[in-house]
Amino acid sequence: MTPTTAFPLPDPALAEVLTARLAVVEERLRDAVAHADALADTTARHLVNAGGKRLRPMLTLLAAQLGDGQRPEVVDAAVVVELTHLATLYHDDVMDSAPLRRGAPAAHEVWGNSVAILTGDLLFARASTTVAGLGPEAVRLQSTTFERLCLGQLHETVGPQDGDDPVEHYLRVLADKTGSLIATSARFGAMFAGCPPEIVGPVTRYGEKVGVAFQLADDVIDLSADGARTGKTPGTDLREQVPTMPVLLLRARVEAAGDSGGADDRALLDLLDSDLSDDAALSEAVSALRAHAVVAETRALAVTWAQAAVDELLTLEPSPAKDALVAFADALVDRAS
Ligand code: IPE
Ligand code: IPE
Ligand code: MG
Ligand code: MG
Repeated sequence: MTPTTAFPLPDPALAEVLTARLAVVEERLRDAVAHADALADTTARHLVNAGGKRLRPMLTLLAAQLGDGQRPEVVDAAVVVELTHLATLYHDDVMDSAPLRRGAPAAHEVWGNSVAILTGDLLFARASTTVAGLGPEAVRLQSTTFERLCLGQLHETVGPQDGDDPVEHYLRVLADKTGSLIATSARFGAMFAGCPPEIVGPVTRYGEKVGVAFQLADDVIDLSADGARTGKTPGTDLREQVPTMPVLLLRARVEAAGDSGGADDRALLDLLDSDLSDDAALSEAVSALRAHAVVAETRALAVTWAQAAVDELLTLEPSPAKDALVAFADALVDRAS
């Protein structure tokens, strides 16, 4: 495991190249968030400085290794995807009333909602500046990705409508809010490394599915007892009644059982639907749900999506980069185990 990547890279030569490229991205990111305005400079640097796994730029750099990974546009593209991600984090933490992000207080906790939202907007603006240098096709891809991301968050917020299956609805939400940007991260890498459509297509579909797997794993991580490891406050989704796959699966079980049993499941659901603003109540709800079989089911779903992602790569020639993409998919779901 190299210190600067969040997942094990099987090939040492590839690890060295990617670590060096990631260091360049890191420097560029810090330049990209700098502002002449002192307040904007502080608030926009807040989350970049707090750390994070840098999975999306890493995926761009990695997918680029399927072609000419040294092209300078690849680094610009990696910067664009992390800036876009960063901006969504500022907004998401306002929406979810999340206290912690990347182990630091969320921006809205420090400066209030308005400043956090505007900082997210500033970062989107900087992502646009960088993507403009990559040409109209990249601008179009970035804007359709951003649109899907917003629609995913919107549909998560309003929930399934009459006639929608809640689990199917939620999987579409995950593909939109998380799969879209991870797909574009992979696609930009392959595209700007000059790969032909026979590579760009599968790599994009791989990214989308890996993104769904990643978000399913993230739902399990919300139930983790170890907030220090994740840098997020456990139970944030439960407290805010943000739907997650384990809760939806539990709800489906209770509905399927009807009046004929499942009293424990019903009691757990009632607990989850109750007021969890009290820390002790939240901690009880997190522990009870963590012990339930729906968590293993969510993990299994994440593994299935990660495998489906890897299957998209079947037509690619064997290479260290392809092996690393497989390892990347495995590592994303391993985090939830
Ligand atoms: C958090 O993403 C938001 C999700 C889509 C789950 P990451 O887990 O990649 O967050 P950082 O970048 O490492 O902080
Ligand atoms: C965030 O989803 C997805 C985004 C597009 C930002 P979550 O709300 O599950 O992510 P975390 O748990 O706050 O990182
Ligand atoms: Mg959130
Ligand atoms: Mg959210």
